[in-house]
Amino acid sequence: MPEQGREQWTSRLGFILAAMGSAVGLGNVWRFSYVTGENGGAAFLLIYLICILLIGIPIIMAEFTIGRKAQSDAVGSFEKLAPGKPWKVAGIMGVAAAFMILSFYGVIAGWISYYFVNYLTGNLWTMPAEGYDGFFVNFITNTWHPLIWQFIFMVLTIGIVFVGVKKGIERANKILMPLLGILLIVLSIYSLTLGGASEGLAFLFTPDWSALADPKIYIAALGQAFFSLSLGMGALITYGGYLSQKENLPGAAYSVAGLDTLFAIISGIMIFPAVFAFGIAPDSGPGLVFMIMPDVFDSIGFGGGIFGLAFFFLLAAAALTSAVSLLEVAVAYFIRKFSWTRQKGVLIIGGIIFLIGIPSSLGQGVLSNISIIGDRDILDSFDFIASNIFLPLGGLIIALFMGWGWKKADALRDSDYGDSAIGQLWLFLLRYLAPIAIFLIFLSSIGFFSTGVE
Ligand code: PFF
Repeated sequence: MPEQGREQWTSRLGFILAAMGSAVGLGNVWRFSYVTGENGGAAFLLIYLICILLIGIPIIMAEFTIGRKAQSDAVGSFEKLAPGKPWKVAGIMGVAAAFMILSFYGVIAGWISYYFVNYLTGNLWTMPAEGYDGFFVNFITNTWHPLIWQFIFMVLTIGIVFVGVKKGIERANKILMPLLGILLIVLSIYSLTLGGASEGLAFLFTPDWSALADPKIYIAALGQAFFSLSLGMGALITYGGYLSQKENLPGAAYSVAGLDTLFAIISGIMIFPAVFAFGIAPDSGPGLVFMIMPDVFDSIGFGGGIFGLAFFFLLAAAALTSAVSLLEVAVAYFIRKFSWTRQKGVLIIGGIIFLIGIPSSLGQGVLSNISIIGDRDILDSFDFIASNIFLPLGGLIIALFMGWGWKKADALRDSDYGDSAIGQLWLFLLRYLAPIAIFLIFLSSIGFFSTGVE
């Protein structure tokens, strides 16, 4: 029986759309492009795709299965299915990851919203005196402006979760996400005409195999796969928990993973040819999208600003449906744990997450001399800890829980795989391949396999 007062998706489509809305977001455009650019392009993309196929999809299925079975939140699901056992640590880490990720996600989404408004007012339709790069740097290093936009974005996120996730996001997912897909396709075709097509496509699709020798690309690809699929922190457990009827879970999992990957690759085809056409370094970091896309819109000439407007609007909407799922993970847990009303939980948790995000915003300007991990600034450090450590570790525990903590027959039945060969393969991946691969990637990222020769 579902817990009292819990929402449920009204239809199969509602659930799939919500899961897709969670997956498709800044991770596909902003994060995918800069992380791919920083890690050498095609070789990274290949590892990323392998991670999605062999680790991501099996764990999506595990999260869906756990969520639907338990009908609870990220932590409660483990408590219900395995009372008194330590598995719930995955859920606790997931809630912590939700706080960390949404804290900086709100900052970047705030930047996107600011660009949207600047296209709305026409301010960015022509190049500002300081250039598009200068405009970007001036904005993010300013103390107050980015904070205001982070605040506005968080208020929108809080507002939607306040009225209830289902009501709040259905329309955005049904209409705006397909529009974003179409726009990205149109822009990628245009980008291919800009003169950097062969270099851009080669960067994205022709691997430089020597890049595989660098241990850091494996952890980056794994982290990107988890981040982009909204995986490893119970977001999909939480959404699966609002499922009522029998659904076909494998079909839903493949659609979510397939669509998410398609969005990322199309974004890559949109961004990298332009990166080479305009002579920007692919490894420019988190500002890549903000520096390159205004050049693209500018080059369209008359009316290019309309594309800029649509791009930043639709991306902000996609960010919003992802942010909603991040906030929902934390809120669902706290309102059950402390018997708060949804409204109270949303305001408290949303407010705290906004505050946690402030250093990430200031880290671009007044606090830019602070680095936490290596030479990463504050935002980057939050991202690294959450996406490259917490999410894969959560995924590892979820894989072990489904693979070893459930009876085989139950796992196959509850996942809708039944006694099929693909179901057996799924359990094999969860039991052995995914945990071992994640473990090895962790070891390699701390330099375990390095020969000491750089
Ligand atoms: N998948 C989202 C994106 O690609 O933008 C980010 C995200 C949402 C990560 C929800 C994790 C999560 F639970």
